[in-house]
Amino acid sequence: MTHRNTLHLGSDPSSLATAGRILAEGGLVSFPTETVYGLGADATNGRAVAGIYEAKGRPRFNPLIAHLASFELARGQGVFSPAAERLARAFWPGPLTLVVPKAPTCTVSEIATAGLDSVALRVPDHPVAHAVLEAVGRPVAAPSANRSGHVSATTAAHVAADLDGRIDAIVDGGATQVGVESTILSCLGDRVAMLRPGGLSRDMIEDVLGLALAEGPEGAGDEPVAPGMLASHYAPRAHVRLDAEEAGPDEAWLGFGPGGGGGQPRVAANLSPNGDLTEAAANLFGMLRLLDRADIHAIAVAPIPGEGLGEAIRDRLARAAAER
Ligand code: TXA
Ligand code: MG
Repeated sequence: MTHRNTLHLGSDPSSLATAGRILAEGGLVSFPTETVYGLGADATNGRAVAGIYEAKGRPRFNPLIAHLASFELARGQGVFSPAAERLARAFWPGPLTLVVPKAPTCTVSEIATAGLDSVALRVPDHPVAHAVLEAVGRPVAAPSANRSGHVSATTAAHVAADLDGRIDAIVDGGATQVGVESTILSCLGDRVAMLRPGGLSRDMIEDVLGLALAEGPEGAGDEPVAPGMLASHYAPRAHVRLDAEEAGPDEAWLGFGPGGGGGQPRVAANLSPNGDLTEAAANLFGMLRLLDRADIHAIAVAPIPGEGLGEAIRDRLARAAAER
């Protein structure tokens, strides 16, 4: 884990401009939203997003929420069904996240969506968050600003206790109002399903929709599904073979670090020729997609060290190897 000098910023205009500049340059900045403090990175920059997981010490890659300054900007990232649009108009800015199909113009990186064809979008209702998002001018991926396994942070002091020395800046905007994370709704098909209860109540949502919310992701039956448990990651069709020395005849090769891995793979990619785990994390989902061709039986993956982000990369690959 690289040490970062953490700037402690207020919420005056020049501090907000600084926060926006750090984010635009690929840095990590915590800022308040109305729900909890977020740990933000430029969602379009895969390496910056990988840094979030490193700073949080997250053992695996969950898809993240992309935050935007307005509904109009969100429309450039996702496709809104009539129901999704009604919800956005009723509750944005506010403690609601909508999971929608990616738009053709979506710029959110593969690591932020965990390789999915959908994207989680939110327009937060907080003047500081709004100013930071305006200053960046791009979607900002932001999970709650706490170390993995700790509770979400609702003050700048909580953020500092968890993340000082691990992120580039903390914008202090006082205590957050809502205190719990946003409600997450999936708007992928005809129905709207609750993926995570949160700061916006079911009653208010059902009032606007004029019908009862479905529970859990599409096709998952009626059982509620906890967020971390969602089958919401891209899973390659090809098998995944871990800790491989070289690719077999009908295998693709996914390398890490210098050296080719031998063999004559039909198709090959390298997560990070220099052996940089942050770069590898940023490339992971995109490269899995690239190698997942119809003529490939399995993707042979070079050994990845287990330290730092390697743990999350290995976890994700092990799930890809197991999901059948
Ligand atoms: O209030 C909040 O929502 C806070 C503030 C900072 O905005 N953010 C937050 O993010 O709670 P996070 O990363 O802790 O929660 C995001 C959750 C993931 O656990 C995942 O379950 C869900 O959103 N998610 C994101 N993208 C998804 C997708 N494409 N499909 C299904 N679920 C998704
Ligand atoms: Mg969290």
